[in-house]
Amino acid sequence: MEKREQLYAGKAKSVFTTDDPDHLILLFRNDTSAFDGKKLDQLDRKGMVNNKFNAFIMEKLQAAGIPTHFVKRLSDNESLVKRMEMMPIECVVRNLAAGGLCRRLGVEEGIELNPPTFELFLKNDALGDPMINESYVETFGWAKPEQLAKAKELTFAVNTVLKQLFADAGILLVDYKLEFGVFKDEVILGDEFSPDGCRLWDAATRKKLDKDRFRQGLGDVVEAYEEVGKRLGINFDA
Ligand code: CDP
Repeated sequence: MEKREQLYAGKAKSVFTTDDPDHLILLFRNDTSAFDGKKLDQLDRKGMVNNKFNAFIMEKLQAAGIPTHFVKRLSDNESLVKRMEMMPIECVVRNLAAGGLCRRLGVEEGIELNPPTFELFLKNDALGDPMINESYVETFGWAKPEQLAKAKELTFAVNTVLKQLFADAGILLVDYKLEFGVFKDEVILGDEFSPDGCRLWDAATRKKLDKDRFRQGLGDVVEAYEEVGKRLGINFDA
């Protein structure tokens, strides 16, 4: 697969076309951002760690029957993915209260959410990724109702797989954000799954092991990502 031109550069990843119109290359950079790009930094090794973390998780999800855009890891910082038509929405599931939910509703951080909540946000940095709902998605044509229904079903299927995977490593999957796209008429999981897009707490101490370490200036950001990965059995030296 030959890398061609850059199609898009996001806050932490860049996307390249290839000589095959059905495939793209994702480049995981060391750039880190929070608060809609208002806080930026470069963190050594982060691109490599997130690329390997994402590859491991995507393979686990595929093995569990969840379709994803992930094809294979190409190098330390690059992975090959299927080229999809992205839905401009973010699907968030929460198992424990944190972040935006606590800010919006004034609930205490860490309370269990039973059943887990499902939220939708519009992918739009200029608007600060506003919260939306299923009726907005249909009215504004961001996805067809049956595509949204599939994305929601897959978002919860991911919860079943990953809650257990992290629990077995002594980690709580607090919440996470997923993005979906359409590839040859099928709704499949896109983007990435890494500690940049979820909250992970040590089950015993509730120590934060995710991007909140960067957002809140707690330090040892990539070290925490690597600790999670190692507990899952990821070999970052391979
Ligand atoms: O991150 P923040 O507190 O602003 O928002 P949230 O609604 O509490 O985020 C829920 C989950 O989605 C967290 O794991 C975030 O890291 C993730 N998220 C994301 O990856 N990208 C976004 N644009 C928004 C949320």
